[in-house]
Amino acid sequence: MGLLLKINVILVSVFLVTVAVVGYLSQGLMEEQAREQVLANARILAQTAAAVRSYTSKQIQPILHSRPSPTFQPQTVPSYSAQEVFKTLRERYPSYDYKEVALNPTNQKDKAVEWEAKVVNDFRKDPQRKEVVGERDTPEGRSLFLAEPITISMVSCLKCHSTPEKAPKTMTAMYGTSNGFGWEVGETIGARIVSVPMQVAKTEASRAFRHLFGSFVVVFSLLLLVLNALLHQVVVKPIRRLSKVADEVSMGNLDAPPFEPKGNDEVSALQSAFNRMRISLEKSMKMLEELG
Ligand code: HEC
Repeated sequence: MGLLLKINVILVSVFLVTVAVVGYLSQGLMEEQAREQVLANARILAQTAAAVRSYTSKQIQPILHSRPSPTFQPQTVPSYSAQEVFKTLRERYPSYDYKEVALNPTNQKDKAVEWEAKVVNDFRKDPQRKEVVGERDTPEGRSLFLAEPITISMVSCLKCHSTPEKAPKTMTAMYGTSNGFGWEVGETIGARIVSVPMQVAKTEASRAFRHLFGSFVVVFSLLLLVLNALLHQVVVKPIRRLSKVADEVSMGNLDAPPFEPKGNDEVSALQSAFNRMRISLEKSMKMLEELG
């Protein structure tokens, strides 16, 4: 195997090992980062929902309550307004979602489905728990959810959620008397759940990964090309010339042209050494001839 081939085999092997290790490490890191980014989005959405709820109770409720209406106005309910706002958002971004689910909801559309009920029950079992982050598969792809418990912290909630008798007549006329009652102060009755798609961030992460990998290959190939040209010029070519002359001299052709070593690297040191050896060889030959 030629010197250049040997060096290339070593370099390419080192490169492949490096790429495998860096690839493995950075892919994990990028996926982690993508998840962090999705989680950060989910937190912003959760805060947006909280802002809508607070706006409803601070600004909408006082206005609508001051104008008695013959029918119940769900627009005064923070949970309703937050979910309505997200309904509009979903028209544009169908894979994003915000839900306020309950095990025993006033509005049946808020009934926790199986996985949501499990999240609610996790909160009920562990009152210290303030959030649950998880992933699940949906028809639109993998989705990350951020859930926080809904705990009845104010007595005022019980006006509408304790017994049907206490609730406004207009409300029971609209929602019936069988659901959304029996809640107690301090009880966790449901969960606010934000869902954010992971696909976009994952696609981005693998695109970034491919770019990184691609630039690695390009830079390494260029490096290999330059190194090959340099090695050929500085090492292989002079050594080939040297071995050709050494060949000729060893066959007894003492007229082979001498070299003029260039530079002061190891190869030119070898050439100078060869020149000196050749001169002493010639001298010894001459002495032998004179003796003979
Ligand atoms: C004026 C009556 C009223 C009061 C007071 C009230 N709610 Fe409600 N709540 C409702 C109605 C009506 C709904 C159903 C709204 C809809 O159609 O989405 C609802 C829905 C909810 C939901 C969504 C799940 C479900 O039952 O459909 C949650 C959670 C909730 N309320 C929590 C609370 C909390 C917490 C408080 C106290 C801070 C509170 N509510 C105070 C009337 C009320």
